[in-house]
Amino acid sequence: MEFKNLLFKQEEGIGFVTINRPDKLNALNIETIKELEELFTHLKENQEIKVVIITGAGEKAFVAGADIEELSKLNMVEGKEYSLRGQRVFSLIENLGKPVIAGVNGYALGGGTELTLACHIRIASEKAMFGQPEVKLGLIPGYGGTQRLARLVGKGKALELILTGDMITAQQALEIGLVNKVVPPEELLSACKDIAKKIINNSPIAVKYALEAVNNGLDKSLEEGLDIEAELFGMVCGTEDSKEGTKAFLEKRKPVFKGK
Ligand code: COA
Repeated sequence: MEFKNLLFKQEEGIGFVTINRPDKLNALNIETIKELEELFTHLKENQEIKVVIITGAGEKAFVAGADIEELSKLNMVEGKEYSLRGQRVFSLIENLGKPVIAGVNGYALGGGTELTLACHIRIASEKAMFGQPEVKLGLIPGYGGTQRLARLVGKGKALELILTGDMITAQQALEIGLVNKVVPPEELLSACKDIAKKIINNSPIAVKYALEAVNNGLDKSLEEGLDIEAELFGMVCGTEDSKEGTKAFLEKRKPVFKGK
């Protein structure tokens, strides 16, 4: 697959996606959003890829936001379309059916923070900076930030970030639960790969259902969420992988999962 603003490679079950517009700090223009939609649609279907890692090209940025030049020209109708398009692509990532790990190598601002929020695990380099600076531009977050940030770090911290537009460091992001781990820049990729490899050792179908249970249950009542969990638990009990995993434990050997 050939893209103008994305790099992609596949190795040992991991799909590596790099946003590649370093001269614009990997800002997400419409073209890049469309390319992400095409690539992630392919990744959803590709059974060989079990985990995806997404990062930004260059030393400086993960993604420094949506493209401000494009934002400057939007009217009301176009603005809503712009937001809906980005939301659709980020929801595709969130509901990919396999884990997506954000390797946050630098600035993750506006749409950059929002992209990390759509991912399932966030690993940040010590150099990463996070923020929702849209209000400084007379805008608000439009790619899910007002919703996913509050769900992840709580309403108070989310509103502080969204209303001040302040940037925070990777360490501060760790303290509020916005990222899972902070590592030195040179260890970012290996830290992401280590997590990916652990996940790949597990049953892909169990990983998929676990993701689905958390994603679908989180915004429901506890009772509805528990129903979703029981439904998926029942389904997973009917898989070959669950028979293999439990049998392998009892036989004191490593399981061989088939994803069935
Ligand atoms: N959209 C479009 N272009 C962007 C961009 C964005 N979100 N963020 C950075 N760029 C461009 C700059 O315009 C500049 O382009 P140029 O060289 O053609 O002038 C290039 O990327 C480098 O950015 P620059 O601002 O010179 O780097 P810096 O190191 O001085 O500052 C930032 C880095 C991240 C602090 C600064 O670029 C910034 O504040 N970016 C916007 C962040 C933002 O508000 N994002 C939310 C958008 S909703």
